[in-house]
Amino acid sequence: MALKVLTLVASLALAALPAAAQLSGTVRSAAEGAMEGVLVSAQREGGTITVTVVSDAAGRFAFPANRLGPGRHALSVRAAGYRLASPAEVTVRGATTAALELAPSDDLASQLTNAEWLASMPGTEADKHFLRNCVNCHTLRQPLFSAHDHAGFVGVQERMATYAPASGLHIPQRPLADRISNQGPAAAAARMAVFQRQATYLARVNLGSREAWPYPLRPFPRPSGRATRVVITEYDLPEQTRMPHDVVLTGDGTVWYNSFTEQLLGRLDPATGEVREYRVPELKPDAPKGSLALRPDAEGQLWLGLSYQGGVARFNPRTESFRMYPLPANLQANHTQTTEVEPRHLHVDGKVWIEDSGTYSIYQMDVATGAIQVHQPFPIPSPNIYDITTDPQNNVYFTVFGRGDIGRVDARTGQIRIWPTPTPNSNPRRGTLDERGRFWFGEFAGNRIGMFDTRTETFREFIPPTPFSFPYDAVADRNGEVWTGNMMTDRITRLNPENGQMVEYPLPRSTNVRRVFVDNRTTPVTFWVGSNHGASVVRLEPLD
Ligand code: HEC
Repeated sequence: MALKVLTLVASLALAALPAAAQLSGTVRSAAEGAMEGVLVSAQREGGTITVTVVSDAAGRFAFPANRLGPGRHALSVRAAGYRLASPAEVTVRGATTAALELAPSDDLASQLTNAEWLASMPGTEADKHFLRNCVNCHTLRQPLFSAHDHAGFVGVQERMATYAPASGLHIPQRPLADRISNQGPAAAAARMAVFQRQATYLARVNLGSREAWPYPLRPFPRPSGRATRVVITEYDLPEQTRMPHDVVLTGDGTVWYNSFTEQLLGRLDPATGEVREYRVPELKPDAPKGSLALRPDAEGQLWLGLSYQGGVARFNPRTESFRMYPLPANLQANHTQTTEVEPRHLHVDGKVWIEDSGTYSIYQMDVATGAIQVHQPFPIPSPNIYDITTDPQNNVYFTVFGRGDIGRVDARTGQIRIWPTPTPNSNPRRGTLDERGRFWFGEFAGNRIGMFDTRTETFREFIPPTPFSFPYDAVADRNGEVWTGNMMTDRITRLNPENGQMVEYPLPRSTNVRRVFVDNRTTPVTFWVGSNHGASVVRLEPLD
């Protein structure tokens, strides 16, 4: 939602700013005077890197030294209800200053986040809950700005349901077959009844043939205090179609990403923004393309869960080559969906764990022989199984997304145990075990950050301050703080589990967040994530 380039900069000197800053200044508006919590972004002319800082309580912003480079930069702001009136371009030469003036926006609707739409819309939380599933592929803009009536929305819903989860607005894909539990006439009839009910709600809240939405649009308060102490760097990827579902760093600081709907693995140099992409071989040419999970093993080799391609891939960064591990023929079907792969403790017993969302199975693969042991936590029809994460003995913990449980498969005995989350039907989505044996995960429907202590077998849950957050994933950093992101709020949440306090850092653009990652080598730690509808990789550096 970057605002357009408007006029040229008028430089002026400001006393109280850090001398090393290359670009600093103030943000104000006639309505508020000095403005806190305004995101100020600068992108160098012709560049692919956008750097963002946030104004403090006195309306001051400052880019750290050596981040922008000399030359012309386009400026943009994010502050719901406002647009940048002047200046919108600046030439950075040594220590440069800019005084930004904001004017009322004439298009608040285009500035709202998904969560702000959900909070503005009439109806109960139960009415709105299904909309959290639309944002896999696009924002709520598609339904809410549309002109559809009830019948129109039933048709739209039927079409949406034909797309594989491994889809985006740019690359919709159709699966060769639906999941087992979604097949057959009874399942189709049940689905139609749900579409009818949801279409009634959608026709109530969309633009339709009205002049404006029939309810006030309510943005949340802007960030303040500690949440403004952050620097965000966004790296544009080569094509708009890139959906960097998972962004991870290997031990040497190399940044890697995959693409949810394309056979690609990418490497990003954070210093220059330079990108190198590798084509992942296809296993099933007719099935949807792309990968969901990307995780490094202890050697720094990268593993990809190839979803509908029915297998996993291992990439060796030294030889720059892939080794493919298709599932054996007896485990292949049109609904096979090997979304997750967990190789972190492969060195312990030579095995990687693979999760198949199409058959609700967890596979334990011996990498040397290719032999696979199948674990099926539930009889069919099973609730969906989602993420997998291992402990140091290479036992696997998993999330039961279709319900609200955490499970465990014992690596040696195959014994399976299940623990329900305190919040029922919380839809735990993705997460990672920390060094203290605590499994942190996002409770997507429960709207909570969840923690399962594998040592005491007890849970804790934390509710992010912003309504309709629907956390997707969670990861603990080396200090024991926990980071989460989501597809709704364009905010990254940092939780201190000791006192339950949370900071929510704002993101400069509409950012659909999936896997979250923390680089523990820096002080403070650095947070990384992919922007799934924005085709970029995002680095977030808290200043404390
Ligand atoms: C699996 C991916 C996916 C999901 C989930 C999804 N959509 Fe879409 N949607 C698309 C794609 C792709 C397009 C563009 C192509 C098209 O219109 O079929 C689209 C377009 C749209 C449009 C604009 C086109 C039109 O006909 O008006 C609307 C409205 C829409 N979606 C509504 C929804 C709603 C409501 C939900 C949730 C209940 C939803 N979508 C969930 C993939 C998805």
